[in-house]
Amino acid sequence: MIERIKLLREEISSITPESGEDAEKFRIKYLSRKGLVSLLFDEFRNIPPEEKKEIGKLLNLLKEEAQSKYQLLKSISEKTLSVTKENDLTRTSFPISLGTRHPISIVRNEIIEIFSRLGFTISEGPEIEDDDHVFTSLNFAPEHPARDMQDTFYISRLSQEDSSPDDILLRTHTSSVQVRVMQSTPPPIRTISPGRVFRNEAISARAHCIFHQVEGLYIDKNVSFADLKQTLLYFAHEMFGRDTKIRIRPSYFPFTEPSGEMDVSCRICKGKGCNVCKYTGWLEILGCGMVHPNVLESCNISSTEFTGFAFGMGIERLAMLKYQINDLRLFFENDKRFLDQFRSYI
Ligand code: DAH
Repeated sequence: MIERIKLLREEISSITPESGEDAEKFRIKYLSRKGLVSLLFDEFRNIPPEEKKEIGKLLNLLKEEAQSKYQLLKSISEKTLSVTKENDLTRTSFPISLGTRHPISIVRNEIIEIFSRLGFTISEGPEIEDDDHVFTSLNFAPEHPARDMQDTFYISRLSQEDSSPDDILLRTHTSSVQVRVMQSTPPPIRTISPGRVFRNEAISARAHCIFHQVEGLYIDKNVSFADLKQTLLYFAHEMFGRDTKIRIRPSYFPFTEPSGEMDVSCRICKGKGCNVCKYTGWLEILGCGMVHPNVLESCNISSTEFTGFAFGMGIERLAMLKYQINDLRLFFENDKRFLDQFRSYI
């Protein structure tokens, strides 16, 4: 019996968690009512009294060793079985909720889609610009108030009194990209330029110092105001629906002549008048006009050979109309509760 106890102790001590031994199987084999250790205890009852002391000691040792090995195996298997984030097989296979596109991106992409169907390409220009591309080449007079420090973020200004074409500033509109495209591309030109613009404005529900615009430019021989109207009507129908009406009111921009501002019929009240359209039935969405001959010439395009139209719209404004958002600041706050409401495939 002493020999059998010795062999069993050796057997148990050679079992390690790494050998893949299962705690429950171990318990059944050695420690259960009919297990090998228990059977030895049954036998123990029948041995002669003079051997009991020595064998009893050994048996108790064996039992202790078997129990502590069982505890060890059990603690290891519990650790690996305990459900953690990493090993929970019942976890959904899409545990990360997908983000949504920002409403400004959705509307920008929609505008790009619509104009690309008409053959417009996309062009981009720098956000840090010089006075020449933002103002001078666009026919802004030297004293034009838009150049004023109150509207424009200057990065470096050569003189405090007068502006210079070399002054460096944050572009106040994407019309600057028009100039870059005209300077680098011979007509015909048909392009839109989406981008960020900057103005020194106090932040409120209706204004922000950073916002987004899309500029449009079309230069070719014999481009007329009728082409402009038809292009913008197509855009309004695609963007706001087939039953949308447009109207163009006379306006002034230094870089277009004639200039206009375009309204679309209010989608909420269908032109009857409501608080969104301030009871006029119309909503202003963009500025437009025929490219001023001075602008063509300043970009080395012959104003006798070519004509063109341009337009510019604010993306925030379109998004506010489309989604009926009444506070512009929401676009910049990154509030997930706001952003989660926008789903789009574009
Ligand atoms: N740049 C103008 C603005 O920021 C918008 C604009 C008006 C762009 C008329 C144009 C245009 O191209 O023809 O308010």
